[in-house]
Amino acid sequence: VAFEEQTPETAQGKALFQELLMIHGMIRRDLATVAKLAAEVLDGLPPHRLQAEISRLEANGPLWQLKVNCLRYCRFVHGHHNFEDAAFFPMLRATNPGIDPVVDRLEAEHRKVSDLLDEVEASAASLTELDNDAGRERVFDALRALADDLLAHLEYEELSVGPTLRRVAL
Ligand SMILES: [Fe+2]
Ligand SMILES: [Fe+2]
Repeated sequence: VAFEEQTPETAQGKALFQELLMIHGMIRRDLATVAKLAAEVLDGLPPHRLQAEISRLEANGPLWQLKVNCLRYCRFVHGHHNFEDAAFFPMLRATNPGIDPVVDRLEAEHRKVSDLLDEVEASAASLTELDNDAGRERVFDALRALADDLLAHLEYEELSVGPTLRRVAL
């Protein structure tokens, strides 16, 4: 609180905070898209159509789309978190030493989310090698586990770093 009272907001800081909110908005929206694809794959295809779907893997079928979207999504979130770890968090620590415990927690959450992203990627990749009900459920479950932690992380990050981020002076 002392830091916020003593330090004015800056134009750069406010712009950076808006950018963070925008990127988080994309992450939320794309997670919803991937989860919807997974739900469709989970209960959309009757068993007798399985063989036909497998042959459509190379041709933009639902499993192929799920795999490609999961891969793209996981890389985007990894990239965002790697940037925060390397550039964004050191800047916050330098701006406001009082934020250290918050950033420590955010860094730990990044490591947890990274493991969950790896499971999403691995389960989606294995689904295109061998398609069965268990494989579809594994992707669905991996996305649900990711959603729980990732959405909570985004919200905590926005609330906890906002006041400091809006005051950074580069
Ligand atoms: Fe983050
Ligand atoms: Fe973030």
